[in-house]
Amino acid sequence: MALTQEALRKKYNVFYRRFHEMHAQLIEKGLGNRGHGTDHDMLVAGYCLLIAGDDHRLAEMAWLAAHLHSIDRFFGDDHEKVTAEMLGTAVGVLGYDTPMIAKDPICGIEGDDVSIVLDAVIRHGRRNEDEDSSTLVVLKDADRLANVMPYVIARSGQFQPTLPVIELGYTGTAWHPSSTYKSPRSIHDDLLRCLEWHPDSGTPFAIRTQKAREIGEELFVYLRGWFTLSDKHMKMAGL
Ligand SMILES: [Fe+2]
Repeated sequence: MALTQEALRKKYNVFYRRFHEMHAQLIEKGLGNRGHGTDHDMLVAGYCLLIAGDDHRLAEMAWLAAHLHSIDRFFGDDHEKVTAEMLGTAVGVLGYDTPMIAKDPICGIEGDDVSIVLDAVIRHGRRNEDEDSSTLVVLKDADRLANVMPYVIARSGQFQPTLPVIELGYTGTAWHPSSTYKSPRSIHDDLLRCLEWHPDSGTPFAIRTQKAREIGEELFVYLRGWFTLSDKHMKMAGL
C-alpha cells in the first residue's frame, strides 16, 4: 500500500512545519508565491507517493524532495545551501558544509540516500538523463504532472505576470518563433511547452514512469483542449 501524505507529515513534523514557515516568510517579504507556493510542492509530493507506490523508501525520498524543489525559484544562488539546511531539519544531517550523513536515522532514509534526495532537488529541472536516480525520475515525473494539471494555466500567469497571455497570430499549437523554454513570448507559449512532458513526445523532457503516464492521460487531454478551444474562438472572432 502506498504511503499517505498524512503519515509522512506526522513522521517529519518538524520539517513539515519548517516548510510552511519558510513559505509564509517568503509571502511576508512579498516574494511568494508566484505559482510555486506550498500547494504546488504538496501536489508534487502527492504525485510522488502515487508514482512510487509500494516502494516506501523511494516514496519517502521523493516526498521530501518534492517539498524542497521550489526553493530554486526563491533563493537564487543560495538555493543549494537553503535546500540542504531544510533537508537537515528532516534527517538530522550536520549541515551544508559537512558530509550529508544522517546522524540520527529517525527516518527511513540515511547515509547516501540523503545525498540522493539533495541531488534530485538540485537537478529536477534538467532534461532526462540515463543516470538519473529513481528518486529524480519520480520527482521529475511528479513535477511534470503538476505542470500539466489544469491549475498550471493560472500558475503560469502568476509566475510571469508581465507576459501577454497570447501574441496575436500565434494561437493553437503555433508558438512565436523567438519563444524559448526559458524565455517565452507569451503565457500561451509557456504552456505549449508543457505538452513536451507527454510520455510520447519524443523529447528529453517526457514523463517516463508507467504510473505517471496513467495519471497524466486526462491532464494532457484537458490541456490540449484548452489550446484547441481558445484557438477556435480566436478565429471565430477574426483574430
Ligand atoms: Fe515544480
